[in-house]
Amino acid sequence: MSKINLDSLLSQNASHMRPSPARSILSGLNIEELISFGGGYPNPDTFPVDDLKRIVDRLLRESPSISLQYGPTEGDPNLREELAKRYYSQGVDITKEDIAITTSSQQAIDLCSKIFINRGDTVVCSLPSYFGALQSFWFWGGVPVGVADENSLESTIIKLIEEDRKPKFIYSIPDFQNPSGITLTLAQRENIIRVAQLYDLIIIEDSPYRELRYSGDDLPTLLSMDRERVILLGTFSKTLTPGFRLGWVVANPSILSRIVVAKQSTDLCASVFDQAIAARYLRDGLFESNLVKTIELYRGKRELMLECFKRYMPKCVSWTVPEGGLFLFVTLPVRYNATDVLKLTLIEDLAFIPGEIFFCNGEGKNTMRINFSYAQNEKIEKGVKILASAINRVVSTTHIPL
Ligand SMILES: Cc1ncc(COP(=O)(O)O)c(C=O)c1O
Repeated sequence: MSKINLDSLLSQNASHMRPSPARSILSGLNIEELISFGGGYPNPDTFPVDDLKRIVDRLLRESPSISLQYGPTEGDPNLREELAKRYYSQGVDITKEDIAITTSSQQAIDLCSKIFINRGDTVVCSLPSYFGALQSFWFWGGVPVGVADENSLESTIIKLIEEDRKPKFIYSIPDFQNPSGITLTLAQRENIIRVAQLYDLIIIEDSPYRELRYSGDDLPTLLSMDRERVILLGTFSKTLTPGFRLGWVVANPSILSRIVVAKQSTDLCASVFDQAIAARYLRDGLFESNLVKTIELYRGKRELMLECFKRYMPKCVSWTVPEGGLFLFVTLPVRYNATDVLKLTLIEDLAFIPGEIFFCNGEGKNTMRINFSYAQNEKIEKGVKILASAINRVVSTTHIPL
């Protein structure tokens, strides 16, 4: 058999693919035995197993010919209706026609990249920003340009325009950002909208964590501030189960129709069965009560994590205090490398994600993302002790040039 010359056959897009270092860190580790501050995993205690069992049973008895069949690409009308009702009850006046269901919000990001990015196009995002989005931008040949400080958003865009590299869109996670845990203020949201309107840009509002608020007050979605140019991405991954791989897009009709066509050639439709379950779950009013329990659980975990950080972390370490979501972001003095810390913690079965992967400009070697939703409470304290001791060891052994 002759050997295939794969490199000469792969597409240009495939040559731009970058594997996820976070997934490589976590793969091969037994997440159940590990103390995992790594992935953005919801806590399995929040999965409403009994309710789902009842709904599955009923769907298979009453409507197998629909729920086991192919479905429309834009998604199950009942699910879109339920989602529209939820937005309406939160003051966002949309109908099911404004929503398309996707196979998770990761797919929605990818479909946006697919329809907007040409090879070499710039897109603007925060520094740091969600790696899965960067991965998608890179795949489609995009060049993410990171903005560390929201105040420099406009000057970054002006500079790109002057260089004839006008960005296609601004990618933003306004609520409890992944990885930083930070929430944009109202003034910052207004600024993004102003800048996007002034320079005629699209905004992708990635919003997986918005419902998970533990303190402070809700701020308006970017979508509610501009229905024309904001594409909002939602997901059931953090509030119901990531196993369903169900998300959605809210956008103006001319954008939404393009996303739906792009989805046709991607997977025809999201899982019809999972959509039917989710629709019934929402219709039966089960979502809200489970969300309340989930928020309570995570609020307690966030408090515990923050308390342990205060108690055990060396003085040189700083971290964000998120009002919601699943992460805190930790910064060491610049001369230290989080990957050195990870090597030590893995020996003691503690995983976290070094922050560097979230920086599209290669910075952030001294940062780490810490998840607080997944680990059991007793493991949170143990894990923070291991982390603090590993940081102390790296600090005391790193050679600092004079
Ligand atoms: C900001 C952000 N966007 C999108 C996703 C993807 O979520 P899913 O594809 O499970 O909906 C995640 C997952 O952690 C995320 O943090």
